[in-house]
Amino acid sequence: MKFFIDTANLEQIREAQDLGILDGVTTNPSLMAKEGISGKEAVLQHYKEICEIVDGDISAEVLSTTYEEIIKEGEELAGIHPNIVVKVPIIKDGIKAIKYFSQKGIRTNCTLIFSAGQALLAAKAGATYVSPFLGRLDDVSTDGLNLIQEIRTIFDNYGFETEILAASVRHAMHIINCAKIGADVVTCPLPPILSLLKHPLTDSGLEQFIKDSHKMQ
Ligand code: E4P
Repeated sequence: MKFFIDTANLEQIREAQDLGILDGVTTNPSLMAKEGISGKEAVLQHYKEICEIVDGDISAEVLSTTYEEIIKEGEELAGIHPNIVVKVPIIKDGIKAIKYFSQKGIRTNCTLIFSAGQALLAAKAGATYVSPFLGRLDDVSTDGLNLIQEIRTIFDNYGFETEILAASVRHAMHIINCAKIGADVVTCPLPPILSLLKHPLTDSGLEQFIKDSHKMQ
């Protein structure tokens, strides 16, 4: 399973990269705005900097919602670096654009997936990734993991190569359950990744080992 970090914060991206387990980065307009990135040049420059830190797939989301504009913006984003994956919302013009991009060899991440039908359409159009939003479904008392399971079954039934990128992942159990179900990728902020390290028996065991190691010297 691949690990992507879901942030536009360069410090967090560097920290995750230093761990040596990072496979890519996802961003969205809210995450970019949170870092105060605004204006076309600043946005392009920010993606360039992320590409310099991480050698993996970097999702850059289009802000446009009409076919022509998505194509123009997506081609511009894809031109930044070969690792850029153009992130496109699951709307009618988005699906058309994903089909266009896949024919042009531009990789895509179809975002805001909340149903198996949406994922199926995105895969048919040739999306590289689909992003089902696990946490946001849980937020409205709907089983987000069940959606990922449904998409897994559908993609396996027909041999779709589109990868399932579990998004809106909020905690360690989300990551573990995604791995059990067979999501290809999880994307989340740094804290849930770091929380995978934690176990009280590791802490107490290490404390004891350190104490006993002094008796060996
Ligand atoms: C997906 O690519 C989104 O950037 C993200 O995972 C959304 O997460 P949130 O629901 O925690 O905002």
